[in-house]
Amino acid sequence: MDTKQEKYERLLPQVKALCEGEEDTIAKMANVSALLHQEFGFWWTGFYRVCPEVGGRKLEPAAPTATSALRPPTSALILGPFQGPLACVHIGYGKGVCGTAWKERRTVVVPDVEEFPGHIACSSESRSEIVVPMFCGEEVVAVLDIDSRELGTFDEVDAHYLEQLVELM
Ligand code: SME
Repeated sequence: MDTKQEKYERLLPQVKALCEGEEDTIAKMANVSALLHQEFGFWWTGFYRVCPEVGGRKLEPAAPTATSALRPPTSALILGPFQGPLACVHIGYGKGVCGTAWKERRTVVVPDVEEFPGHIACSSESRSEIVVPMFCGEEVVAVLDIDSRELGTFDEVDAHYLEQLVELM
């Protein structure tokens, strides 16, 4: 059986080929989440994108109301392409594992989600998790979130390869 290093080494050129010349971020996220999910059999694999929000609601392109126009738009993580069970849609800055990776601009590895204060349980089956921020220049524009049904699935090997993977996108 392949080690996870071998699996990642095999996956990276596929991700490069899938993303090369493709401008559409959503399409790339959709294919990359499918690829990772199938190869590793994770419980949940997907992306959250940093999007503008007003008062906790997604900013609609329609004309703003008098009150919404007064409030400055803020950002939140909004659910993007994923594979696995249904997930929560909005995650605030600094909230949960995803919001922490966004705020701290670093990969967060959680060996046991019950030990992570503020973990957002989209599924009670999830036991361990890794979240990797995606950058555009200096700015975090999205996070890759992967959940496992086993404890301690992720370590620095996953962090190393998944950081390379999101860079290729
Ligand atoms: N557990 C995440 C929320 C997203 S789901 O796992 C898909 C968190 O704490 O940010």
